[in-house]
Amino acid sequence: MRLIDGKAVAEKIQEQIKEKVAEMRLQSQRVPHLAAVLVGNDGASLTYVSNKVRACEKVGFRSTLIHLPEYITEAELLAQVQALNENPDIDGYIVQLPLPSHINAKKITYAISPDKDVDGFHPTNVGKLALGLPTFVPATPLGIIQLIEHYQISTEGKHCVVIGRSHIVGLPMSLLMSRNAYPGNCTVTLTHSRTANLAEETRRADILIAALGKPEFIKAEMVKEGAVVIDVGITRLPDASKKSGFVLKGDVAFEEVAPRCSYITPVPGGVGPMTIAALLKNTLLAAEKVV
Ligand code: GUN
Repeated sequence: MRLIDGKAVAEKIQEQIKEKVAEMRLQSQRVPHLAAVLVGNDGASLTYVSNKVRACEKVGFRSTLIHLPEYITEAELLAQVQALNENPDIDGYIVQLPLPSHINAKKITYAISPDKDVDGFHPTNVGKLALGLPTFVPATPLGIIQLIEHYQISTEGKHCVVIGRSHIVGLPMSLLMSRNAYPGNCTVTLTHSRTANLAEETRRADILIAALGKPEFIKAEMVKEGAVVIDVGITRLPDASKKSGFVLKGDVAFEEVAPRCSYITPVPGGVGPMTIAALLKNTLLAAEKVV
């Protein structure tokens, strides 16, 4: 079994981006500028957005955090999105999800200019991804693709089972793994909460990508011997013994599943750090106007 070290791969990618930014500065070009919009004070979202902003600083990007109160109206948030679309100083931006329930998240996502949509959530960009055209690939799936590439894991002709059909992870992941490219060329089964006999499906997976958000749901008997297991889950469970008051748990029962795998990602330190590196990569693409 080989452990996939997402932290190390993410650091390597961020180092490459940092070098690129230093080159841009040397040539007196403007450096990429990412903005992040956060509505409300959800603890996990606050952490994620702060990590994204901190990562920008580390590679030399400019970053702007726009922290708005929970009670902001949909119209006010739409005005903020419009302002970011029109601001030539901002190359790309994200609106952190989930949004409060009184705001229609689809309406907000669809108002983001596709050219600045570094999350890759806008229908134009999802459509481009489905057609295999160059676009912003959502950060988590892009991070997973980069991990598979880094470890030179073979994908052609393999059976890939994705659990979860979210627009952020499962759906784009299934498109990427089935495309005619490397990584890709898999036969993909996209499973979800209504899938009958899920364990039967997961046991057929050469590559299993778990993105269902249920801590330690994937047990040893659900995994084929020699499978590659990618754990996207990152649930906070209360733990009084920790200074933070919580522990992070993946969707995979790591201790029992790991001995069966050829490769596995840990939580934390697997997919998580890669999502940040992927977002930086998309921001660089946005600044270079290559997508
Ligand atoms: N919430 C969880 N993951 C993401 C992400 O990748 N982008 C945004 N905007 N919100 C998220």
